[in-house]
Amino acid sequence: MIKNMRKIILIPLIILISLSGCKKKSPESNPVFAPLPPVVSPVPDQKLIEAASFKIGTAISSNRMKAEPAYDNVLKSEFNQITAEYEMKMNYIWTADNAYNFENVDYLMSYAQQNKMEVHGHALLWYRSFPDWFKSAGYDSVMFESKVKDYITTVVGRYRGKIRSWDVANEIFNDDGSLRIESQIQGTFKDPVGFVGRCFKYAREADPAVKLFYNDYNVVLASGKRNAMKNMALRFKKEGFPIDGLGEQYHYGIRTNQSNITTGFNDLASSGFLIHISEIDSRVNVDRLDTYVFTDADKQKQADFYKNIAKLYSALPANQKFGITLWGLTDKYTWLRDRANGNPKEYPLLFDDNYDKKLAYSGFLEGLK
Ligand code: XIL
Repeated sequence: MIKNMRKIILIPLIILISLSGCKKKSPESNPVFAPLPPVVSPVPDQKLIEAASFKIGTAISSNRMKAEPAYDNVLKSEFNQITAEYEMKMNYIWTADNAYNFENVDYLMSYAQQNKMEVHGHALLWYRSFPDWFKSAGYDSVMFESKVKDYITTVVGRYRGKIRSWDVANEIFNDDGSLRIESQIQGTFKDPVGFVGRCFKYAREADPAVKLFYNDYNVVLASGKRNAMKNMALRFKKEGFPIDGLGEQYHYGIRTNQSNITTGFNDLASSGFLIHISEIDSRVNVDRLDTYVFTDADKQKQADFYKNIAKLYSALPANQKFGITLWGLTDKYTWLRDRANGNPKEYPLLFDDNYDKKLAYSGFLEGLK
């Protein structure tokens, strides 16, 4: 009886002592526990903006900032640069000949100032954002240039000293390096690239301190486009047109070949200019299926995608690092959920629909460290 009592007291005691003795050992070396599956920490110990040696930005819209406290909170705590997703495009600002609407931009600028964020302006010239009234005016090259010069001088001048950078021109090239036919610039000027160079000059004259970028998509994969960009930038340098950096939007699917991305990225960086990853998101529902399910495997692939680019970018020489800008803050509002651009079942960003950090966030953070 007493023997049994001893057993009852002693056995749990021995187990307790052996458990506490195992505390510092790894689970694998402890025979009591089965080995744990590897996990990426779901609650990272550091923020992106703390880990990065450059700006971490996101595309935003003023109505979401005003209407949704969760949106506003994540923006303030996780990012230190903002870009208007559409409110700083020409068709939003330039409402009619000699008429400008700066209401939303003024709001964004003061928000950024209050919260010590930088603002990246996007974009002065983009074929998809010329206002309808401008497109139908039928300007010849002289009128076209004098109007655009007014626009650049007015807009860049208004935020002089307050804005860090501008995309002066966006998407003028095709993947093979030829000029886009949809662009009004191409149809109007004999030397469209020369015109773009003068636009860089008008922007610099309006704000001598602002960093000026050329921005495009598919740059690291399409060597024709990449060469056209590099050649244009070299021509600008030779002819005295100011240009500081090259932006690659980085809208890629999770299955995009990472080694091709790496090769193209390093080639772009060999130009020596500032490099901006300007609109990154990573499509998971690549085939745009209504039945798509965001599986654990795809979550992991997406985390790897973000990790890879964070690593690549972090390895740039210090004087070429400018920033990485996410094209949106939460999956809830991504442009890739519009059927015109993707599918409602799309999850391309770092925060999910509830503003929780995704595995993609952890991957990105790991790449920055
Ligand atoms: C997109 C925005 O996300 C949309 O909200 C808007 O309606 C159209 O433009 N390349 C660019 C961005 O340079 O300006 C585009 O943004 C996405 C592709």
